[in-house]
Amino acid sequence: MNDTRHIQNLALVGFMGTGKSSVGRIVAEAMQFEFVDTDAIIEAQSGRTITEIFAQAGEPVFRQLEEQVVSQLATRQKLVISTGGGLVMNPCNLTSLKTHALVVCLWASAETIWERVRTQSHRPLLQTPDPLGKIKQMLDQRGPAYRKADVLIHTGLRSPREVALQVVHQFNLARKKKSRS
Ligand code: S3P
Repeated sequence: MNDTRHIQNLALVGFMGTGKSSVGRIVAEAMQFEFVDTDAIIEAQSGRTITEIFAQAGEPVFRQLEEQVVSQLATRQKLVISTGGGLVMNPCNLTSLKTHALVVCLWASAETIWERVRTQSHRPLLQTPDPLGKIKQMLDQRGPAYRKADVLIHTGLRSPREVALQVVHQFNLARKKKSRS
């Protein structure tokens, strides 16, 4: 890991439905860190839901808001940051997160993701006639960006608690390595 990095926070990246929020909350409690979610911060700061922002202002505006939130978080400490699924498609966001956080990507197959999100309606990008096809297409497109995370964890057959344990382990490992270097 690069010497200029100061790992004070943990960032969870990955596709919708990979468990970033549920795992993030468990990890935050275990490490006594504060849990924050970039989508929730955008909603609070703009006074609109993500669905409203997409519908009224469009995706490019949402992506600008995401970038603003990521830069605001760079000065904070002891955070578990759950990020929106498309956030790392902007390379500036990943670069910024890596200066202060260990970036862990949660991964799952398209079929598993579809099983987890099919009953939910708050994700504008999945409001299409063929959501499973869209998930597959987006996973292909986003795969290279997700693989730039520091750590990749498959969540398929694991419970959120098991994934959280892995995440905490990786975080402690990264901090130990850093303090030895
Ligand atoms: C998005 C994922 C959503 C939210 C927005 C766009 C994406 O977050 O940021 O709907 O581009 O994949 P979750 O991953 O938390 O669902």
